[in-house]
Amino acid sequence: MPTYAFISPKGGVGKTTSSLIFATQIAKRGVGVSIIDADPNYPIQKWATGGYCPDNVHVISNITENNIAFNIRKVAAIDPIVIVDLEGTAAKIVIHALQEADFVVIPMQGSLLDAEQAGRAITLVKDQEQAVRRHVKNYILPFSILLTRTPPAYQTRNMASLRKSLSDKGIPVFETVLTEREAFRSMFFFQKPLDKLNSSEAPGIDKAIENANAFAAELISKLSPEG
Ligand SMILES: Nc1ncnc2c1ncn2[C@@H]1O[C@H](COP(=O)(O)OP(=O)(O)OP(=O)(O)O)[C@@H](O)[C@H]1O
Ligand SMILES: [Mg+2]
Repeated sequence: MPTYAFISPKGGVGKTTSSLIFATQIAKRGVGVSIIDADPNYPIQKWATGGYCPDNVHVISNITENNIAFNIRKVAAIDPIVIVDLEGTAAKIVIHALQEADFVVIPMQGSLLDAEQAGRAITLVKDQEQAVRRHVKNYILPFSILLTRTPPAYQTRNMASLRKSLSDKGIPVFETVLTEREAFRSMFFFQKPLDKLNSSEAPGIDKAIENANAFAAELISKLSPEG
């Protein structure tokens, strides 16, 4: 059953936000999902205490570099989808998570500085691919860059040229961009999935749900037979 790891060396690019968006979208489709909350601030664990966590979303915290692989395997035997929200790329915990991952999402904000940071994440993915599963001939650990926090309604020129420079280097990038939206922040503030927010808690909830749904559908398609 697929395990999705969300990594990036840079803080604040939207790893936790995109992890939670994906988890809640999976849950809406009636599929069980476990989130391994390996961010030391436990943002998803805190979110889940608000009383609106769907029954089929299971949050696992108290994760360390010593127990992450065990926990991923344990929940992967129960839930069809496992999501791992990590912090940074330097720690051993990230290496252990990559060793269990079937797909890696690398969120990134649209600036050249972030492009360099994403490059570091890609190197790490490639290193693990070689190191861990070398017994599987030509094993490739698939990954894709997710452009995040872009201004709504338009693609900035920077974003377009960044997208082009990544694709010129053969680096996969999601078609879907996670736009900067208040509703995505409100999810955490009000400790709710997007579809439980009401219009006094955030504007543009419908657009945010549409955006979340497009991202989830694209990510699911990456590991589906047709994807
Ligand atoms: N698409 C978005 N729209 C609006 N706000 C966003 C979006 N993505 C992230 N944010 C906000 O940016 C901040 C950082 O996001 P988030 O915590 O998801 O990043 P992170 O990569 O997990 O950070 P860290 O490295 O600290 O774990 C949070 O306040 C979050 O609400
Ligand atoms: Mg985080």
